[in-house]
Amino acid sequence: MSAPAAPLLEVDGLRKWFPVREGIVVPRTVGHVRAVEDVSFSIGRGEVLALVGESGSGKSTTGRLVLRLLEPTAGRVRFDGVDLLGLGAREMRAFRRRMQIVFQDPFSSLNPHLRVADMLEEAMVIHGLEPDGAARRARVEELLATVGLRPEYGRRFPHEFSGGQRQRLAIARALAVRPEFIVADEPVSALDVSIQAQIVNLLDDLQRRFGIALLFIAHDLAVVRHVATRVAVMYLGRIVEIGDAERVFASPSHPYTRALISAIPVPDPDARRERILLGGEIPSPMAPPSGCVFRTRCPHATEACAREVPALEARAPGHMSACLRAAELA
Ligand SMILES: Nc1ncnc2c1ncn2[C@@H]1O[C@H](COP(=O)(O)OP(=O)(O)O)[C@@H](O)[C@H]1O
Ligand SMILES: [Mg+2]
Repeated sequence: MSAPAAPLLEVDGLRKWFPVREGIVVPRTVGHVRAVEDVSFSIGRGEVLALVGESGSGKSTTGRLVLRLLEPTAGRVRFDGVDLLGLGAREMRAFRRRMQIVFQDPFSSLNPHLRVADMLEEAMVIHGLEPDGAARRARVEELLATVGLRPEYGRRFPHEFSGGQRQRLAIARALAVRPEFIVADEPVSALDVSIQAQIVNLLDDLQRRFGIALLFIAHDLAVVRHVATRVAVMYLGRIVEIGDAERVFASPSHPYTRALISAIPVPDPDARRERILLGGEIPSPMAPPSGCVFRTRCPHATEACAREVPALEARAPGHMSACLRAAELA
């Protein structure tokens, strides 16, 4: 047996605190938004890690830190064994090609003044791919076909497309530079429900076909159910549960994950589960609760939960959760 290959992406102890400033003439820092707190995970080649959690839990910040679109307050990001945070701007360029992002809003992420073909060619030219013009134009047609769009659409501008088609274009642009890793940040949240599955399926197909690793960010667990290899659940800046997707869906360990899963509609009325309703709002990330950050909304919290920050602990092979009472509640 050969040694297991190192993961493509390794994130270790990531933290991002955004300073909050007050005062216009003499601004001073009055606190910090603790957007990401001690986040660690890895993604193997060709694997899909779904990162889920309510709005404001730190998912987008995590995605941007991983791509080094933001500098972390602490922690490490390794891609293909290289410490990205130690790289200068020039060295970072090669990695920029290998790691792409697809945003939630495909309209604001596409240049409205560029025809689609020019946009795709530009992505290749920037990274020195397909220097031959004829080959590049052929590749544009191939990319459009890959994402399910007709070749003549290359002559159109972004505003001439529907939301779903624009997201196909954003995916084509990411694929244009032959990435190994894509962060898809809520790629279907802005789309009509009827279109969402098409785009999720497209990402799933392409990810398999090209062996691309994917960090699939979503606020809704149902969206990632059929694409995720593994699932990480975030709450108030922290990963509270991470594990193989099947396992997390079948036997969620953390009370927060249980609540999220109980909220997924079930088509069969006989199989209806009891829905766990969470009281209250997510606390302010400027002043997170002591101990377990979830305790203020947790139906099982005890006094100990206010004192101790629960660490991620193994519940089964490849499955971890951060809950002091997990063993007892299992
Ligand atoms: N540039 C920023 N400056 C200050 N606060 C920010 C910034 N970006 C995000 N935040 C805050 O960090 C927290 C996490 O945000 P985000 O990562 O966008 O969460 P999510 O993607 O899960 O909705 C939120 O409280 C958000 O308001
Ligand atoms: Mg977000």
